[in-house]
Amino acid sequence: MDRIRIRGGRRLSGEIPLSGAKNAALKLMAASLLTAEPLTLANMPRLADVRAMGELLRTFGVAVTVMLGAGLGEGDVMRLQAGTITSAYASYDMVRKMRASFQVLAPLLARHGEAKVSLPGGCAIGARPVDLHLKALEAMGAKVDLADGYVLASTSGRLKGARIEFPFVSVGATETALMAATLADGETVIGNAAREPEIADLAHCLIAMGAKISGLGTPQLVVQGVDTLHGADYAVMSDRIEAGTYAIAAAIAGGEVELVGARRDSIAALISVLETAGASVVDSERGLVVRMREKLPSAVIVTTAPFPGFPTDLQAQLMALMCVAEGTSVIKETIFENRFMHVPELARLGADIKVTGDVAVVRGVEKLQGAPVMATDLRASVSLVLAGLAAEGETLVNRVYHLDRGFDRLEQKLSGVGADIARIGE
Ligand code: EPZ
Repeated sequence: MDRIRIRGGRRLSGEIPLSGAKNAALKLMAASLLTAEPLTLANMPRLADVRAMGELLRTFGVAVTVMLGAGLGEGDVMRLQAGTITSAYASYDMVRKMRASFQVLAPLLARHGEAKVSLPGGCAIGARPVDLHLKALEAMGAKVDLADGYVLASTSGRLKGARIEFPFVSVGATETALMAATLADGETVIGNAAREPEIADLAHCLIAMGAKISGLGTPQLVVQGVDTLHGADYAVMSDRIEAGTYAIAAAIAGGEVELVGARRDSIAALISVLETAGASVVDSERGLVVRMREKLPSAVIVTTAPFPGFPTDLQAQLMALMCVAEGTSVIKETIFENRFMHVPELARLGADIKVTGDVAVVRGVEKLQGAPVMATDLRASVSLVLAGLAAEGETLVNRVYHLDRGFDRLEQKLSGVGADIARIGE
């Protein structure tokens, strides 16, 4: 299996074009099940997870075609048409590999009247139940049974509009309720909805397909159900987690990088942390420019939280930066219970991190030393790449498939700004 080799110590300079957001793209693809007409998605990222979702949708009878974009900055175009849904069964094998597969449940149920979708089960970053998804569908009149590790959901006639109040914020459950409500009979009010920008992206796409949704970007979404949705052309938002990751790359390696397509409002929490750490982030015509001062980064205190708080999907990357900061940082993870798997791997590079429960205390060290490392999820993997940029000598990141799931042509983007990084065969 391929590995990524990084030789640390190079300052970064130049521009990185951002790709479309993985966590928006996967849900937009699932939304294609809501209509018999074609949904054409532009600015699609080239990722293993996107291909896996395409494969899953094909098993339901969706015609999926992809036109590859020409360069790094030009996304792919994907056309999806769910003319007739020929199967509404998502196997354990599919859902186990990629949790986002579970997001097909609501659109299959809303359009087809029934679905059998595997429970995702636990994953490397925690237990991650789906109880809120199922409660939302039940509130809308669906009959939901669990048997042999599968969710069997059905509805006689259309789902019914309902008032749903989530006890805590869940991105996935908000998306489930939103997609189901578009084709329900009557009005649905979704309270304590997640406000992650990917939710608004999904809502904008659904609106382009004829859905009636208000309250975008607020904790209360109101949906007036319609009889049918139609096809649409939609461009996926740029990836804020990719933007944040490369912003941290500039901060850890030093130098100046323009993130083309980045939006300040989508990574405001990270920007304020980076500014505390000693970086400057200024708007440019095409995105944001991140510049790191010559001195070491300063330590920070950060707690992950739902948007607009500091994203859990940038926690591992920030920790890599804090490993080489001056002083002691405290990072608290509140979204997932087991999202510190990068800690022992960062320690292999010489980092000084102590974890107690959901808190990691990071004492900055003067230098990290390159070593072979690996990680069990995609954000953890990329944190090791970032640490490698700052480490002395050679870092080899194994299990590259985690990176390929979530980072579009990472090594090309980083070598384009001067990093010494390459993909090597075994
Ligand atoms: C999405 O996961 C993202 N995945 C995650 O990104 C991201 O970390 C997360 O949102 C938080 O921002 C995709 O979009 C594909 P949640 P999701 O439902 O929807 C608990 C990445 O690296 N919960 O907001 O699964 C859950 O266990 C991935 O790209 C329930 O208890 O996250 C977690 O502790 C990793 N019951 C918390 O809520 C439920 O029914 C938040 O999860 C649903 C969730």
